[in-house]
Amino acid sequence: MSTEVALRLSGNFIGGEWLPAASGRTFEDRNPTDHDDLVGIFPESGREDVEVAVAAARGAYPGWRDTPAPRRAEILYAAGAILTRDKEELARLMTREMGKVLAEARGDVQEAIDMAFLAAGEGRRLFGFTTPSELPNKFAMCVRQPIGVCALVTPWNFPMAIPAWKSMAALIAGNTIVIKPATDTPASVVALGRVFEEAELPAGVFNVVIGSGSEVGDPLVTHNDVKVVSFTGSTDVGRRISSACAPTFKRLHLEMGGKNAILILEDADVDLAVEGAVWGAFGTTGQRCTASSRLLVHEDIVGEFTEKLVARARTLQVGNGLEPGVQVGPLVSERQRETVARYVEIGMREGATLLCGGEKLTEGELSRGWFFAPTVFGDATPEMRISREEIFGPVTTVIPIGSFEEGVKVANSVEYGLSGSVYTRDVERAFRAMRDFETGIFYVNSSTIGAEVHLPFGGIKNTGNGHREAGIAGIEVFTEWKSIYVDFSGRLQRAQIDTHESAD
Ligand code: UN1
Repeated sequence: MSTEVALRLSGNFIGGEWLPAASGRTFEDRNPTDHDDLVGIFPESGREDVEVAVAAARGAYPGWRDTPAPRRAEILYAAGAILTRDKEELARLMTREMGKVLAEARGDVQEAIDMAFLAAGEGRRLFGFTTPSELPNKFAMCVRQPIGVCALVTPWNFPMAIPAWKSMAALIAGNTIVIKPATDTPASVVALGRVFEEAELPAGVFNVVIGSGSEVGDPLVTHNDVKVVSFTGSTDVGRRISSACAPTFKRLHLEMGGKNAILILEDADVDLAVEGAVWGAFGTTGQRCTASSRLLVHEDIVGEFTEKLVARARTLQVGNGLEPGVQVGPLVSERQRETVARYVEIGMREGATLLCGGEKLTEGELSRGWFFAPTVFGDATPEMRISREEIFGPVTTVIPIGSFEEGVKVANSVEYGLSGSVYTRDVERAFRAMRDFETGIFYVNSSTIGAEVHLPFGGIKNTGNGHREAGIAGIEVFTEWKSIYVDFSGRLQRAQIDTHESAD
């Protein structure tokens, strides 16, 4: 992409216009595969920009709320069509910006397309319900209503899919949006803004403000005119946002950390389980909330499983995600790579066995990016920090277990509850695991990653706060129920009283 195009990408999108930050400040967005590659220059915004964007979203709200949902849907269909047309270009931009390999970047854009079409379909549903009244000649129904201006704070690991999960659901329901993308990946959200612009979404309905959590995120989520906050990121930041939103009782949706386990029982197809573990642990360089970072393997097969896993991990091609054959890209930033390196040291200090990887990759071309070797720890115990804390990198930990019961107990021993999985051929234990894992997502004979957009996505315990996104569940976050009674009896009818009036 030429510098000219990269520069064209920059700017906040506010009230239908592309604007610099009020302060005039900017920052550089660089390719994590190659620091010399400047992906774009973006505004370093602050409170003033947030004020203008929230005002634009507030101004656009009544018009968008009153646009019939099937009409709103037409715009989302158009956005889905534009995303489909531009999928390849958007995926390439994403790989340059974030580092995930091209096939996965295509998947990320595809997830946005799927969500656009799913939400658009809801434009002719958005079902409420009717129900009989307890009184004669009285009609009762319940309808969904939009809530207002939504603040969406989105992460860098799914630069387009997660912004799409949130925004498509919010928009079809009739809300307006101010989105703050992660500063590591603003280009994909700017691209989404351009898609909505081309789809002729009315000005001010979708606004983008780019900047840091403290300069943009804080004033945005605490703004009085913001009625809904949807955040995906770390549990620490989620906890802070939760406190900040409490005084004004904002609707708050939080999607936070994970420490997902695959339970591999002694009757499992070991080769299948190895494939699932490799994909779940090293896909997206381990930078998924749903990553398979704990492998709880029955002691009867742990030797065979670990040997095969390490052999596979060693063959993974690490490099530039735009090159064919590359399976693992870089970490998104130097900071992220330092965190991963620190956890490897912690694991070794704790006494786990480093079986492969464990080091930064700095040879030749790789010296230009934030690469790290796919890493497997063996002989780990559930108490170790590497078995409990989210690492968000290409590191997985094998923990031997003695029984199904012990496996479930260890799986549930962490603070998080996003995704889990079991590999077994025993239908009874598969069903018990489905029931007993404390997670919001569960897989049988498949990895912990790979959620589809029409099912609710989210977790329990310190992963979430009771909401779900994607699917129809996503629409719950962005609507309020209104119960409506219509009395056509022509007289006063008193609920609970006239229903039980005695005849005399
Ligand atoms: C995330 O891990 O942050 O299920 C999102 C998956 C993807 C989405 C993951 N569809 O892995």
